[in-house]
Amino acid sequence: MRLIAHISDLHFGRHDPGIADALVDEISDKHPDLVVLSGDLTQRARMNEFVQARRFLDRIAQPVLVVPGNHDIPLYNLAHRFFSPLRKFQRHIPSGIGGNDWYSDHELAVLGLNTARGLTFKSGRVSLNQMSLIRRTFAHIPDTAWRIVVTHHPIASPRGEARIELAGRSVLALRAIADAGVHLLLSGHHHHPVSGHASTELVLNNAILVVHAGTAVSTRTRDGEENSYNLIRLDGAHASVETMKWRPDSGFQPIDGARYGLRAGHMEPE
Ligand SMILES: [Fe+2]
Ligand SMILES: [Fe+2]
Repeated sequence: MRLIAHISDLHFGRHDPGIADALVDEISDKHPDLVVLSGDLTQRARMNEFVQARRFLDRIAQPVLVVPGNHDIPLYNLAHRFFSPLRKFQRHIPSGIGGNDWYSDHELAVLGLNTARGLTFKSGRVSLNQMSLIRRTFAHIPDTAWRIVVTHHPIASPRGEARIELAGRSVLALRAIADAGVHLLLSGHHHHPVSGHASTELVLNNAILVVHAGTAVSTRTRDGEENSYNLIRLDGAHASVETMKWRPDSGFQPIDGARYGLRAGHMEPE
């Protein structure tokens, strides 16, 4: 069994310090095998915001896989934005080459892809190199391991949701992801959390489960939505997604949940 805490869109600089402290305690209590942080660690990619984000990450005992978001590249410093967009992110945040990241154990293989770009500031994009990275990376992973891709910008839209803006080249990327046998896609950016069937989707003939996270600690909540994060349990051939929403009087509480079974390479609701 593997437990993943999926947090996103922290936006240090526009965050609630009390909720950030509570999230550290919450993660410590839940004791996940892996924490996935799907981007937008800062509000404006400022030095002091990255320092706060780093201090937050240093308080988490578990392994953390992190990818940058569009808010983690400079907006106003055009030289840095176009020529070294990840300079500050990589100076302060432990991460892989080019903002991509990787975690694996015998039950899990998780590839984080940097979709944040200086040129397409808000929308993000998957590069052709990243599509080959997806195919290469999962080629040697045993069939028994859960395969997961993490991006800041969503690559697929949840069924039943109003269409949201996806990362550039997402159709091509989705083909590479399906070919690589990926089971789950985790993303953030839209500050709209997963909510059982309403916010998770099975795509490509039910082969892939899409999970979006809300904003965990930022005050930039959308349409009055609470702060939230996702708890993802992967147990044998079963996956469950639980959205934990912040309640000022009782902390993070499970509000929505959905459960899926993996049968012959397809995820089916249970
Ligand atoms: Fe965000
Ligand atoms: Fe974003």
